Amino acid sequence: MAAGKQAVWFDCDTGFDDLMALVVLAGLDQFEIAGVSTVVGNTSLENTTANTLAVVEAFGIDVPVYRGRSLPLVGQPSTIESLLGEGGMGTIGRRLPPAARRRAEPEHAVQALIDFLRSAERPALVVGTGPLTNVAEALALAPDVVGKIGRLVVMGGSTGAGNHTAAAEFNVFADPEAWAAVLRAGAPLEMFGLNLTRQVLIGPDDEARIRAVGTDLAQAVADHLGAYLRIRDRHRAAPMPLHDPCTTVSLAHPEWFELAPARVDVELAGQLTRGATVCEFRVPRRAEPNALVAVRAEGERVVGHVVDRFVEALTLLG
Ligand code: BDR
Ligand code: CA
Repeated sequence: MAAGKQAVWFDCDTGFDDLMALVVLAGLDQFEIAGVSTVVGNTSLENTTANTLAVVEAFGIDVPVYRGRSLPLVGQPSTIESLLGEGGMGTIGRRLPPAARRRAEPEHAVQALIDFLRSAERPALVVGTGPLTNVAEALALAPDVVGKIGRLVVMGGSTGAGNHTAAAEFNVFADPEAWAAVLRAGAPLEMFGLNLTRQVLIGPDDEARIRAVGTDLAQAVADHLGAYLRIRDRHRAAPMPLHDPCTTVSLAHPEWFELAPARVDVELAGQLTRGATVCEFRVPRRAEPNALVAVRAEGERVVGHVVDRFVEALTLLG
């Protein structure tokens, strides 16, 4: 670990916006990525791992990638390739080349995460951009490590409407028991949910800026972004919430976000509301707070940071 840098663990279900979050994180000078773990979510574990390896190889990100859980804690996966496109990363043309050299590590992600936390010399930073299955299993197998987590910065949940269902955001819907277990364990969760990410919109101009870099890799990234902008209507690009990168941008620019203490509980039993996050902000009057919930973002600044980072990285890669 380079002196002065803070180690961070990145847990993801790559996915195009997870890709963006990881590339942003790799570009932050004050942080060093100790490990990346993959989990079933947007698509199968096989695909999220292959997508993650493709990203680290294409962008020259020198970090170990560990395969994590292929099933949620309870039930079967709720993958959404039908929405996101083939392999969980749709495209309107080219795609990121599959990794030719990079391979996943032999160790299971859950054990690797436990080892990372146990060896942390100061409160550790963990970022999650997928279902929290790996984190929940790590805390179940090694309850001692919860005290080693200084911040658990995650994309998931909503203070209001959902996206996967009317009530539930996808990452929580995909494994509500995992979210509930992580909260129950007392992990210091920072929730970047849909109420926040809907303030951070990426759009066709951003696609054009990335495409203008002109390299093959830039064209592929722009084509993936093009598909992301067409998730709601495949015939027309439209601004879309840039979910996962809000977590990693917040590490470098906390001043662009406002977080409020709240009591977050996950609906596990509701027939129509399973996976909904119920956020009580009247703390401690009505309930003990157990999380910080992001409520406001300077959306244009956040998106500008992400797109600048891509333009810079893609230009340097040539
Ligand atoms: C979340 O679900 C996934 O599809 C995205 O990658 C993001 O993590 C948004 O609800
Ligand atoms: Ca994700």
